Amino acid sequence: MGRLFIVGCSGHGKVVADIALKQNKYKEILFLDDNPKSDSCMGISVAGSSTYEDIRPEDEVIVAIGNPSIRQRLQEQYEESGLKLATLIHPQAVIGTNVRIGKGTAIMAGAVINPDAAIGKGVIINTGATVDHDDVIGDYAHISVGAHISGTVTVGQSTWIGAGAVVSNNLCICDNVMIGAGAVVIRDIEEPGTYVGVPARKIR
Ligand SMILES: CC(C)(COP(=O)(O)OP(=O)(O)OC[C@H]1O[C@@H](n2cnc3c(N)ncnc32)[C@H](O)[C@@H]1OP(=O)(O)O)[C@@H](O)C(=O)NCCC(=O)NCCS
Repeated sequence: MGRLFIVGCSGHGKVVADIALKQNKYKEILFLDDNPKSDSCMGISVAGSSTYEDIRPEDEVIVAIGNPSIRQRLQEQYEESGLKLATLIHPQAVIGTNVRIGKGTAIMAGAVINPDAAIGKGVIINTGATVDHDDVIGDYAHISVGAHISGTVTVGQSTWIGAGAVVSNNLCICDNVMIGAGAVVIRDIEEPGTYVGVPARKIR
C-alpha cells in the first residue's frame, strides 16, 4: 500500500486523518493544503498544496474540505489525472448489507448506514449520523453530526443536512439545498436554497 494524501488540514481534515491512522494500512499519511497554518497538523506533515505533483499511482487521495463545490472540483481534478481516491470508513461505523459507497467518501465514528442505502462519491457522513434503508445520498452531499435520515429518502448532490436535523421517511430533497441545524424536514424539497426550523421552511 502506498501513501495517503488528505487534502485540507482543517478540523474536518483531522477527523479524516484519525480514521486513516486507525486503518493502519498506509505507508505514510500526509496533508496537502493551499493555506496551511503550519507545516504539520496532528503530527502529520503538510507536504505541499492541492496541486502537489509527487502523488504516485500506488498512493491514494481524499479531499477533506467541507465546502461541497471545492470538494467536487478537487476530487474531479484528481480523478481526471488518474489518481486513486480513498474511501475512509471509521471502524466504529456500522455499515449494513448491500450498502454502496462511492470513492472519496468519508464515514465517521458512530455513523450507521442501513441496508440497501447508496452513498455517492465525495460524501461526508459525519459523526453519529444515521442514513436508513434504501436512502440515496447524492455525490458531494454532507450529512452532519447527529443528523438522521429516515428510510427511502433521496438527498441531492451537494446538499448539506445540518447538525442534528431530521428528515422524515420517503422524501426527496433536491440538489444544492442547505438544511439548517436542528431542522425537521417533513415534505419534499424541490427548490435549492436554505431551509430551517420545525417543520423546515425556506429562508432564502
Ligand atoms: C441555516 C444556516 C446555514 C443559516 O446560516 P446563515 O445563512 O448565516 O443565516 P443567519 O445566521 O443569517 O440566519 C438567518 C435567519 O435564520 C435563523 N436561523 C439560522 N439558522 C437556523 C437554524 N438552524 N434553525 C432555526 N433558525 C435558524 C436565524 O435565527 C435568522 O433568523 P432572523 O432573520 O429571524 O434573525 C446556519 O444557521 C446553520 O444552521 N448551519 C448549519 C451548521 C451545521 O450544521 N454545521 C455542522 C457541521 S458538521
